[in-house]
Parts: sequence; structure tokens; C-alpha cells
Amino acid sequence: MLRYFSTRGFRNYVKAAKKILDNNWTGSYTKPSPRLYPHQWNWDSAFIAIGYAHYDLNRAQQEILSLFENQWPNGMVPQIIFNPEALGHYFPEPDFWQVPDGRLTSGITMPPLHAIACRRLHEKAKDKDGAREFLKLLFPKLIASHRYLYKFRDPEGTGLVYIRHPWESGVDNSPAWDRPLREIQIDKGKLPSYERKDLQHGIPADQRPSDDDYDRYVYLVDLFRRLKYEEKGIYEECPFLIQDLLFNSILCRANHDLLEIGKVLKEDTAEVQGWVDQTSRAISERLWCERCKQFEDMDLSEGKPLHTATAANFMPLFAGAASKSQAEIMYETLNSVSFCALHQGNCFTIPNYDMTRDDFDPKNYWRGPVWININWMLSQGLTGYGYKQKADAMKKDMIQLPIRFGFHEYFDSQTGKGYGSGNFSWTAALFLDLVYEYYDKDKHGFKWLKLGKSRKLKETKVLNQGSRDQVAPSPDVACNLMATMGDLKERFYNLNRGSVDYEAMKNSSEYRRIYQQTSAKLQDFNLARLSSLEEKLAFWINLYNTIVVHGIVELGVSSSVREIPNFFSHIAYRIGDYKFSAQDMEHGILRANSRPPYRPFSLFRRNDPRRQFSLKSIDPRIHFALVCGSRSCAPIRFYEPRGIYEQLEIATKNFVNSSEVVILPEENKILLSQIFKWYKGDFGGKKQMFEFLQRYLNPDEKSDFFSRNKDSIVVEYLFYDWNLNH
Ligand code: GLC
Repeated sequence: MLRYFSTRGFRNYVKAAKKILDNNWTGSYTKPSPRLYPHQWNWDSAFIAIGYAHYDLNRAQQEILSLFENQWPNGMVPQIIFNPEALGHYFPEPDFWQVPDGRLTSGITMPPLHAIACRRLHEKAKDKDGAREFLKLLFPKLIASHRYLYKFRDPEGTGLVYIRHPWESGVDNSPAWDRPLREIQIDKGKLPSYERKDLQHGIPADQRPSDDDYDRYVYLVDLFRRLKYEEKGIYEECPFLIQDLLFNSILCRANHDLLEIGKVLKEDTAEVQGWVDQTSRAISERLWCERCKQFEDMDLSEGKPLHTATAANFMPLFAGAASKSQAEIMYETLNSVSFCALHQGNCFTIPNYDMTRDDFDPKNYWRGPVWININWMLSQGLTGYGYKQKADAMKKDMIQLPIRFGFHEYFDSQTGKGYGSGNFSWTAALFLDLVYEYYDKDKHGFKWLKLGKSRKLKETKVLNQGSRDQVAPSPDVACNLMATMGDLKERFYNLNRGSVDYEAMKNSSEYRRIYQQTSAKLQDFNLARLSSLEEKLAFWINLYNTIVVHGIVELGVSSSVREIPNFFSHIAYRIGDYKFSAQDMEHGILRANSRPPYRPFSLFRRNDPRRQFSLKSIDPRIHFALVCGSRSCAPIRFYEPRGIYEQLEIATKNFVNSSEVVILPEENKILLSQIFKWYKGDFGGKKQMFEFLQRYLNPDEKSDFFSRNKDSIVVEYLFYDWNLNH
């Protein structure tokens, strides 16, 4: 729920990622990689702009602008914009494409991620007026690009658009295209002669598409140029027409973002709303195979679905188009040995193809390796549908892959080794996005303080002052409170924003009626009724977890508890004759009245009657149960005296195996949550703390490495994210 930490542990890698982007930056766009891809690529630019958005908005805007400067008159945003100064190292280039009017572009498009990127740019911008101007400039261009897709790529008005070349999918040699490509009969004699250039950069052929694939890629380009890039003629003759899940899901998500952009600009959004509705319905209804319980691409040339098992099958999560039950079914496959299950070991987040298939290849391009962009989209989709633990684990893997193995184009899904081009731009850009988004959120907290907007509270606010009924509370009261708060949070979780709408929650009758009333009962609770240690632990953990959310709601915290200095000491509950702030509960009671970090004294002084309630010793596992400690905490509804130790074990295991503990064997380093720095003493010192970690780490090569190198490993601390971890 709340996390306290900094990108300090990542500083060098953040620098390295920025350097890659600097080196690939040409002055108007960023090359996907230094040599293999010297021109501007369509969806690469969107991913790259998302990375820039965190620290160089100008460049981010430039990146998108230079792409749209080359938009075709019919609205199509080309897949490649060729740099006239860099010709000669890539195939096919303009001499081969021969597109109308001598344009220096290819003649196909790519997944339309740009509205998604533009919305992010606006969100991240400090200068909102400037960002709005940029949106104004882009809005008509974005509309034209989506309109092109609906007009020319969905001639039957199905809500789903087709791609007409594997390169349009962005996942060139995906196993999904094997069957449709095989159906294309090639007369080698009639194929224009060509020379592959992708194998001249030192990348082994077994990491790239095959020659047979290339023949078919070339065959299709040749067909397009013979048909003069007329969409109608292509629709009639092209043997490769697929309603691709990846493409349509991205379009669907982009429609949502385009709608939001339209709202910011107060533009008429009726047309976009129509696209949003039509495409999300079409994905959910037309691309779902009820019999095989999965989403599938539709091959229009054959009039039948493609039964494949690639990561694209899960993209309706990113689209937000899957129903809850479809999402559940997908999750079962996604989180299985086919696609690397949680804590499985010997794999690194989601590979692009089912690992149990005979033709799965962990090295070959889109036929098995891990790609950061696909995982980045899927992790967002999973977050949206509430699969936070999985999304968190994926983010952790994604951040670690480039740190451990370099900023490669793709990674071996079993060993993590980097393949394809090195210094790959979107890997660097999305790494930056992940690190900034994931570990660096508290920057906003600081901003608040600097702006002098922090709200100092003179007094502690007692949150359970409401009138109470006659019925005396039972010791279950804290369990009930935590469970009720959990339910309320779920109810007011806003899927689109990816966060709890605390404002709406505060104004709801459920909150006022149920929550306020139950918490008021605490005033009549007699703490002497808690006799066993288990009862005490459960009671106080539940109460702490509750009061923090209660405080956020009541004090109107918007993004970080740092908005209110000493937040934890300014919110309290009255229990019987005593008042306990959140801080009292944590340090005074649960930490056995130990000194809080960076404070000279313990909280309950000698004559404080509340000392009688302090626990006698510290169980360090409480740190992982208090307000969930981590984003990836187990969804424990409330702590129960009877199961308290098992629950603490679960919470601890989850925390220790989440992104709060990152082992980097190649660097002989461990990055740890600040919790381990602040509360080292609670574990009994560094040595015991390391033993503790060893005990809870899931067994894999990294935990083995840690056990073997405990004495020499370098520790760095991640900073604490004070932001609301909705
Ligand atoms: C390859 C990838 C494609 C990417 C391009 C440039 O063609 O398959 O997705 O956009 O390289 O990085």
C-alpha cells in the first residue's frame, strides 16, 4: 500500500541507458540500434518517446513529430522512414520499395502505439501548456492514422483491422505467421533478386528469420509495388491478410488514449468513442475461441483462425478488451510453464512463444526469446486486471535483464543471454520507464514539499470519533476493519486510472456507514481482552493496515503521504482509554517499543501507561505485513490469530522475492529495500539479516549465488517509494 524508497542502486544503469539513447539519437529521431537498424522505425519511436518522457520531453516530442512528418496522404504512418544519409546498410530500402511520389519510406505500417505515447508525454510533462500544444498538433494526425486503419484495413466494418505483411505486426518471424506464409507459393524464378543485409552485422543466422521467410517478405513487397500501393487492389490480391491480435489490441488501447487526448483538448470525440466500443467488442467476441479457450489471430485469406501460442495471444489484456473471465483463463496459461510461471526459475519473464512447443527456440528472434516491449505491454495489462504480483515479478525481471546481460534487442528466455543487436534503443527507453515509474515515484512527493504545498497538521487527528452503537466490539473488530477497507478499495479501484479513487470512496455511503461505524466501536474496546501473542500480533497489524488507508482517505492525500509531514504520527485511533497513532502501533507496540529509525528515543516513555501493551520482542516479519510493505505483497485480506505465523511467512516470502530484493550475480551486488537498512537491528544485525534473506529467497541460481557470496557481496539500498501504492 505504501512504500518508502530511490533509484540510487540503479544510478549507473540509468546513465548507461541514457547514453545508448544519446548515441542512437540522430538529431531528429533515434535509431533503434547503432548499425542493424539505421533508419527510423514506427513503433520503436513510440517506445523510445515513452522513455524520453521522463527526462527529455523535447526529444520525446521530436521523435514523434519526425515520424508523423512522413505520414502518407491517406493517413498511413509508415513502418520505416529512411535516412538518406544512412542508405546502403539495410534491406529493403527505398529503391526496392518504390513507394508513390518517391517518398523515403517503406510501404507498410506498424502497430499504432503513438496515441499511447502522446498521452504519456502529456502526463509526464511539467509544462502542461506546452504539452497541450503538442497534443493539439498531433491530434489530427493521430485521428488520420486511425481513420486510415478503419477505412482501408477494415473494409467490411468488423471493428478489426488487418495487416498485410508480417513486418506490419512488428513480430516479423512469429510462429503465428508460419502457416499463412507457407500457403504462399513462390516461384523463385519470378522473385526479384535481392540481398539480405541483416546478416552482415555479425548476428548469427539462427537468431534471425530464415531465407524462406525472407523470400515471402520480398514476394509481398513486390506485390504491393506492382499494385502501386493501392489498398483496394491489395485487399483483393494479397495472400497474407491477418486480423492480428497484437496489432488490434494496441489499436484498441490507443483508441482509449486518443479518447483521453480528445477530452484534454475538448475536441469532438464521438468518432473515437465509436472505435473504442467497436474494437474492444470485436476483440472480445470475434477473436476469442471458446473451444480452445484462447484469443487467436484471424486469417482472412483462409477465413479461419490461427491456432498458435505466442505472447500476442495475451494482448487483449493490454487492450482492456478481455472480459474478467477471459482474463482469468488467459492468466492460467500465461502463468504456467508454457510462458514462465511465477517463481519458476530457469526462465526470465514471458517469452514470445510457448516454451513447451517443439519448435520453441529460446534464441531465434520472435520464436522464443524474451522481448522487453511485449513484456512491458503485458505487465501493464496484467496490472489493469489486478494481477499485480505477476506484473511486479515481470517488471523486476525486465529491469534485471539489461542490467545483467546488457541492453540487447532480445534475450534468451532460459539463460537471459542477450541476442540480436546490442545498445538497443527501446530496451534502454523502456528500462528507464520501468525504473522511473517503479522505483522513483517519490520524486513527486519531494515536489510537493518543495512547492511548499505540504500541509502541516498541528494536532493528531483521531479518526474514529464517530458515534458508536450499543454493541460492545469483539476482538474481531480489527479483522473486520481491515477486511472492510480491502473491500472498499476493491470497489473503488478505477481500472482505467490503475488506482483507487479515494475521493469517491470518501464520499460513498458505504464508507461512511460501514467503515466509520465499525471504527467507532474501537472506542469501547478493552485491550486487556487480547491475551495471546497471536491475538495481539493480528490485532495490531490489522489496525495499522487500516488506519493508514483511513488516514489517506480522511486527510485527502493525493499522491504521497509526504504531503503531510509526520503523517504516521498524526493519525490515531482511540482505543478504550488510550490514543494510538499509526507510529505508536508500529514502533511502540509491534516493535516492542524500540527506537524508530533516526529517532533518539523510543516512543512510550517510562510512565506511559501504553507500555503495558508493547510486545515483548520483535518478530521482523511484521515489516512485510505492515501496509503490505511491497506492491507485490500477498493479497491477505486480514491477519488472523490462528493463522498468523503462516500469514507472516507468506508476506515475508513475497516481499523477499519481489523487486525489493534484487540480486545481480554478474556485479556481485544485492540491491535491498531500505527496510533492511532501517531495521537491520530487528533482524539481529547484518549477518542474521542475510541468513534471514537466505531462508526466504526462492531457490534458484541467484539465491545460490547469494548464499555462496554472502561475505563479499556488495549491498546497495533501493530508495523507498512513499507514493500511494494503490
Ligand atoms: C525488427 C523488429 C521490429 C522492430 C525493428 C526495428 O524488424 O521485428 O519489431 O521495429 O526491428 O527495431
